[in-house]
Parts: sequence; C-alpha cells; structure tokens
Amino acid sequence: MAGCSRECSTSINCQTTRVLDNRASSIDSCDETTPLISIPRGPSRSAVEVCILIFIFFGGFAIGVYLLIVEGEERPANFPFYLVERAEWGASGEPQGQPLNHRIVNHVLVFHTRSVQCEGYRCAQIMRSLQHDFRGRNFTDVPHNFLVSNDGRTFEAQGWRLQSEFSGLAERNISLAVGLIGNFTQLTPKKHQLEETRALINEAIHRGKLNRNFGIFVVRNATEHPQDAQAMIDAVKSWPNWRHVIEYS
Ligand SMILES: *[C@@H]1O[C@H](CO)[C@@H](O)[C@H](O)[C@H]1NC(C)=O
Ligand SMILES: *[C@@H]1O[C@H](CO)[C@@H](O)[C@H](O)[C@H]1NC(C)=O
Ligand SMILES: *[C@@H]1O[C@H](CO)[C@@H](O)[C@H](O)[C@H]1NC(C)=O
Ligand SMILES: *[C@@H]1O[C@H](CO)[C@@H](O)[C@H](O)[C@H]1NC(C)=O
Repeated sequence: MAGCSRECSTSINCQTTRVLDNRASSIDSCDETTPLISIPRGPSRSAVEVCILIFIFFGGFAIGVYLLIVEGEERPANFPFYLVERAEWGASGEPQGQPLNHRIVNHVLVFHTRSVQCEGYRCAQIMRSLQHDFRGRNFTDVPHNFLVSNDGRTFEAQGWRLQSEFSGLAERNISLAVGLIGNFTQLTPKKHQLEETRALINEAIHRGKLNRNFGIFVVRNATEHPQDAQAMIDAVKSWPNWRHVIEYS
C-alpha cells in the first residue's frame, strides 16, 4: 500500500511542476504543454490501476482468509472415517446378532434414533444409555450396525460381521443399518453427521462389506410420527444411490 501512495503522489508532483513550468514559459514552450500534461496522465492512470489491483488482491486475500475461517468448521471433501469401537464407548456385553453374509449386502438402511444428539465425550454416555433403552425394548443390544454422531464419528453397535436386530425388516440379511443419533423429523442432520455417514458407506465398500451397486433407504416409523424422519429423508434423498423410504412400524 505504501508503494501505491508513493506512486500516486509522484505523479501529482510531476503534473504540478509541469503546469508551473508551463505558466512561466513562452508560447513556444506552451506548445509543449499538451504532450507534457498528457504524459503524466499515463503513470497516473497506471498508478490508479495498481491501486485497484492491490485493493483487489488484498480484498481477495481477506475474503480467502474469511472463507478459510468459515470452512475451518467443515472437514475436507474426503471426510475421514472415524470409528469408535464398542470397548471405547463402554458397551456392555457382546453383540448377539446373526452373522451377515457381506457378499450379498447391497442395502444401506438409514434410521434415526429419535434421541438427543451428542458431541464429544457425551456420545459414549448417550451410546450406553441407548444400549440400555434398546434392551428395554425387546432388543439384545443397539440393533443397528453402526450409529453416527452429530460431530462426525461412527460408533460400533453390531459392527461389520452381524445382521442388525430389526427382525421385522425383510431386507435385514442384505443390509447395513446405520442410525443417526438424534431426532430428525423436523431437525436437519448437521453436515458432519451426513458426511460421516457417507464416509462409513465408502469404508464399507472398501472393506468389501457392501456391494458397489448399493441402494440407500431411510426407514420411517409412521406410527411414531406421521412425518417421522422427514428432515433426514430430505437430506439424504439427493444422494447418489438413493432408492426410497421404507415404512416400518
Ligand atoms: C421427534 O421430533 C418430533 C418433531 O419435533 C416430535 O414430534 C417427536 O415427539 C420427537 N420424538 C421423540 C421420541 O422425542
Ligand atoms: C420380543 O421378541 C420376541 C422374540 O424375538 C418376540 O416373540 C416378542 O413378540 C417380542 N415382543 C415385542 C413386544 O415386540
Ligand atoms: C433374507 O431373509 C429373507 C426373509 O426375511 C429370506 O426370504 C431370504 O431368503 C434371505 N436371503 C438370504 C440370501 O439369506
Ligand atoms: C413404531 O412406533 C411405535 C410407536 O412408538 C412403536 O410402538 C413401535 O414399536 C415402533 N416400531 C418399530 C419397528 O420400531
């Protein structure tokens, strides 16, 4: 910016000097005034251009820094898969589900837990309380293969090897069941949670636990609420591989 103002003031000085010279001189030198006055306009205009360019540069830089700060909240496009194993969240007992034949798994069933959401250390606590609640509802454990938290982590429930415990679902022997922790009937799941869900799906494909030509389904219980899981459906239905809603009540 210093360079800019120096150039501007130099050109103004030049112009002033030449105008003064001009006033004091003869008609002959007056003839020279036209080129003399017009010459400073060149540097003056380019100085303005330099000022504009520098302004654009710093403006762009400031916008870039601002976007970096805003984007700092987001994880990069290739969102890392972050698994929290049962032992890490303090699960009690071993999962009892039936074995899953991963060669035929081509469905991803997305549920919501209709519970509170969680972040950070609270999630292990929520996982243990969900395990307790599901056991009180005729399941032997958290019935899903995995649950995904609001802060973008995947919690192991039945894991990769076992079927989910949703015995009423005909698709369960060809499915990975993923539960988003939270109640997403009206509330839209946060970006981290959705991206972790996609990272989990990619991980499943890379591990050979899910067919590449899989379909994504959201499981809704309309007895629970006529619009059950609607905000989650709205978020997920734009994904590639989206199929349809499965009613389960
Ligand atoms: C889930 O959210 C909906 C809409 O806000 C609400 O009506 C419903 O009671 C909630 N479900 C639970 C189990 O809290
Ligand atoms: C609980 O599970 C058992 C065995 O899977 C089943 O026979 C029973 O009907 C279930 N009870 C309820 C309330 O769903
Ligand atoms: C999956 O389970 C359904 C019943 O829920 C059954 O009809 C089907 O044969 C099973 N598929 C395989 C491959 O085991
Ligand atoms: C659906 O919701 C109703 C009402 O809360 C509940 O009784 C039923 O067990 C639920 N069904 C499933 C499959 O979770």
